[in-house]
Amino acid sequence: MEKKNIDWSSLSFAYMPTDYRFVAHYKDGAWDEGKLVKDASCTMSESAGVLQYAQTCFEGLKAYTTKDGDIVTFRPDLNAKRLQDSADRLLMPQVPTEMFLRALDEVVKANAAWVPPYGTGATLYIRPFLFGCGPVIGVAPAPEYEFRMFVTPVGPYFKGGIKPLRLLLSQYDRAAPHGTGHIKAGLNYAMSLYPGYVAKHQGYAENMYLDAATRTHVEETGGANFLFVTKDNKIVTPKSDTILPSITRRSLVYVAEHYLNMEVEERPVSYTELKDFQECGLCGTAAVISPVGEVDTPDGRISFASGMEEMGPVCAKLREVLTGIQMGEIEAPEGWIRKIC
Ligand code: PLP
Ligand code: COI
Repeated sequence: MEKKNIDWSSLSFAYMPTDYRFVAHYKDGAWDEGKLVKDASCTMSESAGVLQYAQTCFEGLKAYTTKDGDIVTFRPDLNAKRLQDSADRLLMPQVPTEMFLRALDEVVKANAAWVPPYGTGATLYIRPFLFGCGPVIGVAPAPEYEFRMFVTPVGPYFKGGIKPLRLLLSQYDRAAPHGTGHIKAGLNYAMSLYPGYVAKHQGYAENMYLDAATRTHVEETGGANFLFVTKDNKIVTPKSDTILPSITRRSLVYVAEHYLNMEVEERPVSYTELKDFQECGLCGTAAVISPVGEVDTPDGRISFASGMEEMGPVCAKLREVLTGIQMGEIEAPEGWIRKIC
């Protein structure tokens, strides 16, 4: 198979339509088989649940070319499960794990020419999503749904690759207690657009959100969880019911404990502790682990000891092991890698 003629190393995190996407339809209480299609557009009722009441949720994962030339994905069973949790909370039908994994295998294989080659730094971003396409007018779940999965080759999520980022402590909240912060609902991202605009307009890469109830604990950013390193080399990561359970963060915790022999604490992290941390990283599928150098707050600037010049040594090591596992350079824990072709 001949790869597409793309300058893989200079890709940014942007949408580029590829050849095939998977589409399945849910009607009268059942999913159809689903199939690959070439058309990148969706057609639906003007009164679709997604258009009127934002009844939609999504996932994000990646395919990688390994050192041996295989195309693999990373822990997709966890994305399937999280999409089911999101669907439950939004009263949408679950996509069965079998269908999710079949769609994944088919869509990645059909678009193999778009999977960035090993060593380019680029990856294939996979976007599964589920939405109410049947008509509603009173506030109610839609009568019909579509599950889709498309892929697009991407480079780093943050401009500058792995240069430390500067964040803004947001004056807005991301998720309410007992709300939808723990699922990947489209509505969580719609409401983050304005705070994101405010931050980016002032030159910040992202927002740091605090918990909405007390505004004393660190939650996450708009698209990644936090991971901190203490001065005595322990990993600390916020525990909260209102953040997304990041698969990358859970994997990095495992890597820290089992590959690097480090101690990890998952617990509420007070905003007042920030100044004491050595390193800070943002973890997510898109972010991988991106270093944070500074956070600006109404009480002044918090600077992590690792500084604004380069990624701190612990985040760098975590990144090296995680990407090594994903690229087939380091042996993966059982069940983490799904070979597609
Ligand atoms: N937090 C939010 C709000 C996200 O959108 C994402 C991205 O998926 C993450 C965290 C990271 O999750 P994961 O590592 O599963 O991609
Ligand atoms: C991901 O990391 O997959 C995400 O969904 C983050 C998104 C905001 C791009």
